Amino acid sequence: MAETLEINKDLSRRERYEILLPQIKSLVSQESDMIANLANICAALRQSFGFFWVGFYINNGSELVLGPFQGDIACTRIAFNKGVCGKAYRDKVPVLVPDVNAFEGHIACSAASLSEIVLPALKEGEVALVLDIDSDKLNDFDEVDVEHLSRLMRLIEDKVL
Ligand code: SME
Repeated sequence: MAETLEINKDLSRRERYEILLPQIKSLVSQESDMIANLANICAALRQSFGFFWVGFYINNGSELVLGPFQGDIACTRIAFNKGVCGKAYRDKVPVLVPDVNAFEGHIACSAASLSEIVLPALKEGEVALVLDIDSDKLNDFDEVDVEHLSRLMRLIEDKVL
């Protein structure tokens, strides 16, 4: 792989997603290793948007374990019944948290994280992993993120898992 990510910081977040997703598709289509692909997806999201923390938690059969990520060190294991990640795991749908301090049971890996979005990717009907993105700004995620990151999760289900 010798790809350079095309990023235009003047574009809206929606426009940046529209440019980024085909690039991620191309990137993961050239590589068969799941960890390598998840690592590059984290890097691509952080490079494009400057998110405070981007990472995956992978279902090991009994809990969610920290996978590839970009950002500060983080909690390594999350029980299925804990936190925002656990909620996305149980409900199998994206969870948008505008203010983490107002979310009962939120797991604070960093006090600097103020809002968060978590989305699941499924394999054979089970949640194989979740993508967790944290922001150091309140209310930093909305339906644009849900829409495009959901497309990314379908891409991960088709090409990465
Ligand atoms: N806040 C998450 C834990 C993971 S860290 O944000 C990286 C949660 O409540 O599940």
